[in-house]
Amino acid sequence: MMSSYSHKRMILTFLAFYGLCLAYLWLSSCPPFSDMEDQSSVPVEIKDLDKPIILLWLPPLDVKIDPADCKTYFNINNCVLTDDRSLYNVSDAVIFYHKHIKWNLSNMPSAPRPDFQRWIWYHVESSNNTVRRVGVDDLFNLTLTYRRDADITVRNELSIVRMAEEFVIPRKDKVVCWIVSNMSPRTGASTRTAYFHHLSKYINVEMYGRAASRPLSPDEYYPTIASCKFYLAFENSQSKDYITEKVNGPLVAGTVPVVMGPPRGNYEQFMPADSFIHVDDFPDPKALAEYLLQLDLNDDMYRQYFRWRKYFKATPHLTKREHQFIQPICEACQHIATDSTFSVVNNLNEWQFGH
Ligand SMILES: *[C@@H]1O[C@H](CO)[C@@H](O)[C@H](O)[C@H]1NC(C)=O
Ligand SMILES: *[C@@H]1O[C@H](CO)[C@@H](O)[C@H](O)[C@H]1NC(C)=O
Ligand SMILES: *[C@@H]1O[C@H](CO)[C@@H](O)[C@H](O)[C@H]1NC(C)=O
Ligand SMILES: *[C@@H]1O[C@H](CO)[C@@H](O)[C@H](O)[C@H]1NC(C)=O
Repeated sequence: MMSSYSHKRMILTFLAFYGLCLAYLWLSSCPPFSDMEDQSSVPVEIKDLDKPIILLWLPPLDVKIDPADCKTYFNINNCVLTDDRSLYNVSDAVIFYHKHIKWNLSNMPSAPRPDFQRWIWYHVESSNNTVRRVGVDDLFNLTLTYRRDADITVRNELSIVRMAEEFVIPRKDKVVCWIVSNMSPRTGASTRTAYFHHLSKYINVEMYGRAASRPLSPDEYYPTIASCKFYLAFENSQSKDYITEKVNGPLVAGTVPVVMGPPRGNYEQFMPADSFIHVDDFPDPKALAEYLLQLDLNDDMYRQYFRWRKYFKATPHLTKREHQFIQPICEACQHIATDSTFSVVNNLNEWQFGH
C-alpha cells in the first residue's frame, strides 16, 4: 500500500502541476513528468504537500472557513485545510462537528478509513446541550473540545508574563452589563435568566445583544464591555470546564467578570481566584447586588480585582461570526502537524456524559 505521503504527493502534485500548466499553456512550458519530483522547479504552493491535509467533513454550521485565517490570527501555517471531500483518501485527519452527525451516522464517510487517517471529534457545547449519539463510541481518534482532558483542548487561557505593562483600568460609565443573545430555556439558560431577573431588582443591569433587541457589532464588543465595571459572564449551563469566551471578554477588556457556571474551584484552575466574582460566593442575588454596589463606591476594593494583571495576560478572542469556529480548527491543524502518534477514543459518550 502506498504511504499517505507519496499518495498525497502524487495526486496534489498532479493537480498543482496542471493548474500551472494551464496558466502557462501559451508558453508550452509544461515540463515532462520526470521533472515533477525535482523540488527546485516546483512552485511554492506545491511545497505545501509536505503539510498534512485536514479535511472538514462536517464543518460547523456551514460557516465557510478561510484557510488563511489560521496564519493570520494564530500564526499556524502547517497544514492544508480543505472541505473538498474528494481529498478524503489522502487526508491525514478529518474533522466532524458533533452537532451535524446524524443519529444513524448516514452522513459519515462511507469509504474505508485509510490506516494513517485520524478522525477528530469536534464539540464545543456543554454536556447539557449535547445530543447523545450512540454510534460515536469507538469511532474517533482525537477529541477537540474545551475540556482540559481533551486530546486537543481549545480555550482562551491566560498566559504568564514576567513583566506586564502598567495596567490602567479603562474609564467606566456603567456598573453592570450583560450581552446576551439566548434566553431559551431549551438550552438550560433558564437558571441564569431567573438569576438575572432577581439580581436586576437590586441593581441596574445594562443589557445588550439579541435577547435585549440591542445587538452589538463585533467591533463594539470589547469597548462596550470595557465601559462597565462588572460583566455578567453567565454560561447557559453548568458543566465541568465549560468556561467560555464570556469570561475571556471582560478579562481582556479590563472589566470584572461575575461568573455563573461550574463551581468556583473549576474557574480557579483557569484564572486567579481574585480575578472574578462567582455568584456562588453569595447566598442570593440580593447579596451579590449589595456587594457590587459596595465595590462601585470603593475604588481601592475594586482595584484589587486587577492585581493579577501584573503577572498574566488575557488574549482577545475573535468576535466576528465567520471566525466563530476557526480557532479549534487551527488548533487541530497544529496538533496534527506536530503529533503523529496513534490514538483512539474509547467510550466517547461515557467521557462526555460521565455515564
Ligand atoms: C477512496 O478509496 C476507496 C478504496 O479504499 C475507493 O473505493 C474510493 O473510491 C476512493 N475515493 C476517492 C474519492 O478516491
Ligand atoms: C438515517 O436517518 C435519516 C433520517 O434521520 C434517514 O433519512 C436515512 O434514510 C437513514 N439512513 C440509513 C442508512 O438508515
Ligand atoms: C447540566 O448538567 C449538570 C450535570 O450533568 C447538572 O448538574 C445541571 O443542573 C444541568 N443543568 C444546567 C442548567 O446546567
Ligand atoms: C483511529 O481510530 C480507529 C477507531 O478506533 C482505529 O481503528 C484506528 O486504528 C485509529 N487510527 C489511528 C491512526 O490512530
